Amino acid sequence: MRPDPTILIVDDNAANRRLYQATLGDLGAELFMASSGEAALELCDAHPYAMVLLDVHLSGMDGFQVAHAIRDKCPGLDAPIVFVSAVYVHEQDTYRGYRLGAVDYILSPIVPEILRAKAANFIRMYRLRVEAQQQAQAIEKAYRELRTVHAEMEGFSYSVSHDLRTPLGQVAGFADLMAMGHAGELPAKAREYVGYIQGAAHRMNSLIDDMLLLGNMSRTEMQVQPVDLSHLAQSLLMELSTLRPQAHLSWEVMPGMQAQGDQRLLRVALSNLLSNAWKYSAGVPRPFIEVGSRAEAGETVFLVRDNGAGFDVHAAGERLFRPFQRFHADSVFQGNGVGLAIVQRVIDKHGGRIWVESAPGRGAAFFFTLGRLSSRPAPLV
Ligand SMILES: Nc1ncnc2c1ncn2[C@@H]1O[C@H](COP(=O)(O)OP(=O)(O)O)[C@@H](O)[C@H]1O
Ligand SMILES: [Mg+2]
Repeated sequence: MRPDPTILIVDDNAANRRLYQATLGDLGAELFMASSGEAALELCDAHPYAMVLLDVHLSGMDGFQVAHAIRDKCPGLDAPIVFVSAVYVHEQDTYRGYRLGAVDYILSPIVPEILRAKAANFIRMYRLRVEAQQQAQAIEKAYRELRTVHAEMEGFSYSVSHDLRTPLGQVAGFADLMAMGHAGELPAKAREYVGYIQGAAHRMNSLIDDMLLLGNMSRTEMQVQPVDLSHLAQSLLMELSTLRPQAHLSWEVMPGMQAQGDQRLLRVALSNLLSNAWKYSAGVPRPFIEVGSRAEAGETVFLVRDNGAGFDVHAAGERLFRPFQRFHADSVFQGNGVGLAIVQRVIDKHGGRIWVESAPGRGAAFFFTLGRLSSRPAPLV
């Protein structure tokens, strides 16, 4: 659509055309004149037109035939047609006109002020449509650019993570060899340093794992199926109690929580939420983790809550789900800040939402929903 409005005027009477010129000439729209139906057809696809002013009683093709032919020849022209007639137009013909895109009938001799007001309105509407179209195009362009950048970033982080694995494996491997095979030959300080190297290599390895997972997320095809979230949470908590025992920690998982989703991705999300709850509740005397769900406004809201360190959600704001954002010092709680970004991507992929309630020293509650996904059978591997 071109930004400057145009009006097509079809009338075989030269005096009428001059009158229209004088009436509409200064409304900010360029006027195109056709003295016959045939001439109008020549012009119909030249512009999108804000309005077509069409004389019903043309010699040769009448106005309705012209409107019909215009719709046939220039299907892209959806300009409103205003018919002008010197005599009363039969009701049946009126409807015929409306079906062809007429929006109005006016009687001639026309009242210039009324025609001006109508034309000004159509011009305004045209400008609004152009504006909306330009905005839609700008949004689409920005969206396309964003998707490209996003895909590039994901590809980049994926390949970097991949390439880091090999040298890191060597660092960790040689550190292990030194610790196991040559520990006796090393002074105590050197053994301590080797321990630091092993710890750092281990942390970097899990960071690479997480970055690969995040970088891979948009490429991951979802296998939607019924998932027993209660069972999943129980087994993840059991796993944590073996890997990271905490003497006084207890938990409660609501039984029978079912969801539709990708089992593997939901496991990843829940595992991150639960290991956060586990980690950040370590400092309180009686750590307690709760996993549950409730029905709210027609959807199921799932919840993972702990009574641990909590954090200032308001200060965190939108950064909370961004990669590498942390709200506790590394010296107090170690981490890489990628976990919640992964959780959000999983919830996003399921068409759900996630939000948090927390305050420093008052625990944290993560709530999430999963969109309404339908099951697709998993492919046979
Ligand atoms: N259950 C929780 N209790 C307190 N703080 C949390 C909790 N979960 C997440 N956070 C805060 O959000 C930050 C980001 O979480 P996450 O992405 O999982 O990274 P991390 O590797 O640090 O656990 C954490 O560093 C922590 O400050
Ligand atoms: Mg975490």
